[in-house]
Amino acid sequence: MPIVVGIETTCDETSVGIVEFLGQSRKKNKKIPQIRELSLVILSQEIHSKYGGVVPELASRSHLDNILSVFREAVDRAGIKLQDIDLISVANGPGLPGSLMVGVNFAKGLAQALSKKIIMVNHVEAHIVSPLIENDIPFPFFSLIVSGGHTSLYLVRDIGNYELLLKTQDDAAGEAFDKIAKIFRLPYPGGPVIDSLSQGKEPIFYFPDVESEDFSFSGLKTFCIRTAKNWFGPFPLPEFLASAQKKIVDEIFRKTVNKVSEISENFPEPIYIAITGGVARNSYMRSLLLKADGKIKFVFPHPRYCMDNGTMIAFLGGLRNLVFGQLSDLKEEINPTYRLKPSGGIG
Ligand code: KG4
Ligand code: ZN
Repeated sequence: MPIVVGIETTCDETSVGIVEFLGQSRKKNKKIPQIRELSLVILSQEIHSKYGGVVPELASRSHLDNILSVFREAVDRAGIKLQDIDLISVANGPGLPGSLMVGVNFAKGLAQALSKKIIMVNHVEAHIVSPLIENDIPFPFFSLIVSGGHTSLYLVRDIGNYELLLKTQDDAAGEAFDKIAKIFRLPYPGGPVIDSLSQGKEPIFYFPDVESEDFSFSGLKTFCIRTAKNWFGPFPLPEFLASAQKKIVDEIFRKTVNKVSEISENFPEPIYIAITGGVARNSYMRSLLLKADGKIKFVFPHPRYCMDNGTMIAFLGGLRNLVFGQLSDLKEEINPTYRLKPSGGIG
């Protein structure tokens, strides 16, 4: 059965995933073949933590230093020989130009040296379809990406057929967590830190609502700065962070459910909303959504598939090749601003 290697270097994770496509189809979604993950190695670059955000120059250097050992480790853990690889899939955008260049050139070198096929895929599309790695979800379903770079709700009618329903007007949800952490001099990435400091704390602060259909998080920063500056006495930081976290997550939940309810009136039930991206690891979000019942079912991929990872790149590349016969050639380049068309396929 075909073995696909996925290479991910779009931002600050150097990751290689190796999967085997098993051919059997699933019960509910017959179009999507079953896969088995042979290995996944994710190296999260820690060098950025003291800078409060990703430093592009440091990210590309770190990818360059680590890509070969991450790849070797993935091959060793998978227990395969290099010649067993059938297809090399790499994310060529959107992302940081220097970082993308490392992954794409590594993939090209590998394809040339081993005389293997190569496919370049869109990183956002890989997040959108990543819930299908482990879950049997029928089309159409909704895919919500909440990461450091994106906060978007898509209607997924099929592979390659995505309709953007909601987006952020300004910051992404993960970016909001990171910026709030930076205001309080907490390390980057801020999401996991705020998540853990908020555990068991009362969200006693009221954050004003943003009245727009799309998501918007930039007002939170101003609110945080103003509140902290005007506070007399010791600042109850954990309670404040728990309130900010609740505000971000509640806003995502409310707007997503409103939009999905509006669109899905005639859809067969249950209606699936899959949630991916780093913020999908948030424990308050998980507890809130797992409690929700009724005709909407929330699906969370495994936390390792919520963050940037090579397996989702291997999965998408394999799907696009097996289902649509798509391949790239070695002349194809990085595409730092690679966009999914607002409606339909890749633009
Ligand atoms: O998907 P991801 O790994 O990378 C991309 O942005 O593509 O997401 C990283 C983002 C960061 O902004 C980080 O602060 C946020 O996800 N994040 C979290 C949590 N874990 C990671 N946000 C809230 N709660 C978490 N537990
Ligand atoms: Zn991502």
